[in-house]
Amino acid sequence: MYWMDIAAALSAMKHCGAPVVTASVDNISFEAPIKLGNVVHIEAKVSRAFNTSMEVHLSVWGEDAIHQYKYKSNEAYYTFVSLDPNNKPRPVTQVIPETEDEKKLFDSALRRRQLRLILGGKMKPDDAAELKALFVKD
Ligand SMILES: CC(C)(COP(=O)(O)OP(=O)(O)OC[C@H]1O[C@@H](n2cnc3c(N)ncnc32)[C@H](O)[C@@H]1OP(=O)(O)O)[C@@H](O)C(=O)NCCC(=O)NCCS
Repeated sequence: MYWMDIAAALSAMKHCGAPVVTASVDNISFEAPIKLGNVVHIEAKVSRAFNTSMEVHLSVWGEDAIHQYKYKSNEAYYTFVSLDPNNKPRPVTQVIPETEDEKKLFDSALRRRQLRLILGGKMKPDDAAELKALFVKD
């Protein structure tokens, strides 16, 4: 998880070209343990940028280099805020998704943002229109 935090922070920092701070980490679900001696692969990508914050999607695999197979270990979402020289939040460049997978992550990022802001006490549930639409049919 320490490596995941570093990979995610590097990805966010490269995207915005500035120092970043971790604002939140969503729940991490482990599908399979990575065994001692196996190689760890971590892919971190900014899935969507908002005003001053960015969501980073992480995929983690283990690799058994002797028997030559890779297996999915876990996925996670981290949120980082870009900081100006006074350590205040600064605006970030938007993400333009290209592949189908990137588009899915981009679209769903808005609902994940709403959920984490509600849980963090920064948004009223009534204002989370896209999240509410998942549960409430007109
Ligand atoms: C994260 C932090 C920079 C937010 O600062 P703030 O003064 O609350 O600023 P704002 O309310 O303007 O929020 C700034 C951005 O953070 C986002 N944010 C705030 N709380 C959040 C949370 N719980 N989850 C996700 N994003 C959050 C806001 O949505 C906003 O993003 P946006 O501009 O894209 O909409 C500030 O709370 C902080 O420094 N926290 C400590 C971080 C830390 O120590 N991390 C290390 C952990 S080891």
